[in-house]
Amino acid sequence: MRYFITGTAGFIGFHLARRLLQDGHEVTGFDGLTPYYNVKLKEMRHAALMQFPAFRPVVAMLEDRAALEAAVFSAKPDILIHLAAQAGVRYSIENPQAYLRSNIEGSWNILELASRIELRHLMLASTSSIYGSNPTVPFHERDRADEPLTFYAASKKSMELMAHSYSHLHKIPTTAFRFFTVYGPWGRPDMALFKFVKNMMEDKPIEIYGQGNMSRDFTYIDDLVESVVRLSDVVPSELNRVTDGEIDTLSHQAPFRIVNIGGGQPTSLMDFVEKVEEAMGRRAERIMLPMQKGDVPRTFASPDLLLALTGYRPNTTLETGARAFVDWYLEARQELGSVDM
Ligand SMILES: NC(=O)c1ccc[n+]([C@@H]2O[C@H](COP(=O)([O-])OP(=O)(O)OC[C@H]3O[C@@H](n4cnc5c(N)ncnc54)[C@H](O)[C@@H]3O)[C@@H](O)[C@H]2O)c1
Repeated sequence: MRYFITGTAGFIGFHLARRLLQDGHEVTGFDGLTPYYNVKLKEMRHAALMQFPAFRPVVAMLEDRAALEAAVFSAKPDILIHLAAQAGVRYSIENPQAYLRSNIEGSWNILELASRIELRHLMLASTSSIYGSNPTVPFHERDRADEPLTFYAASKKSMELMAHSYSHLHKIPTTAFRFFTVYGPWGRPDMALFKFVKNMMEDKPIEIYGQGNMSRDFTYIDDLVESVVRLSDVVPSELNRVTDGEIDTLSHQAPFRIVNIGGGQPTSLMDFVEKVEEAMGRRAERIMLPMQKGDVPRTFASPDLLLALTGYRPNTTLETGARAFVDWYLEARQELGSVDM
């Protein structure tokens, strides 16, 4: 199969592209190498993918319609997976414009292009942030999720809504997945695990928000990749509507479906810190801080729809996942030298 993936120099796109290349597929990877965090880490990810002859990198921005169009038309993909985005909850308070450009205008450019080619399946990355402070747990895809607490969440919700209309008008089979706090090797420097391990290595204290009372449904990267790979074969259609219960989000107006990707096993932030300490073999000095503006107290995925569609749910333990991250970090640190990741 020919895949066109946006965001391949990013954390999730890199892992997904590598898995698909290992499975023998062709991958065109489109990424603007934005400076939101260390570009060297992004270049290292692309360099690792370039060891596969079937990988073709394109470095350009989603907002550059001519470049995006040329890349998609020459790749002629069967499946387009759109992961490139301005990620991060807190940064969306500081710089909302980056989210408007990448996540709304950039995603609209993807939808426009998708309406002009024959795609087997369009897949889009959305987020658990969309649920905001959902009063009930676990979060089901059919819960009302229209009270976003940050512009990041609002931009991803906008993408989901725009995608539904394009899916209806142009009959584009579309799956939007809502990721729940993804972690693992090659992870993002702005996320808690990376910051904790980095500070502990440098004998600096770690900052714990929400006085440690928050909880997150952490998803190990390999579990996420397995879920996406399995879902790529489940092209939304009445033929695969889940009839058992009320869990399916398959639209009655369009070949469009939303699926949570999370294991449904939330962990409190303090338990998470302890797992990281175990993996590091040392204790961290902790600075307890209040909740940050825009943070949600908890995330908790219902994995029922994912399980019904694919027979799979994320299951890697935090012990295993945190250890894999620490092992990678120690190696990558040598390669990156003194560069601040
Ligand atoms: N990591 C998580 O826990 C998580 C959780 C929920 C949702 N998501 C979503 O998953 C996707 C991938 O996230 P990630 O963690 O790999 O983030 P990432 O920041 O590591 O990767 C995103 C990539 O997109 C590229 N990019 C950003 N804006 C661009 C633009 N306008 N044009 C071209 N390239 C651009 C960046 O250079 C980067 O390499 C994103 O859509 C994100 O919102 C991630």
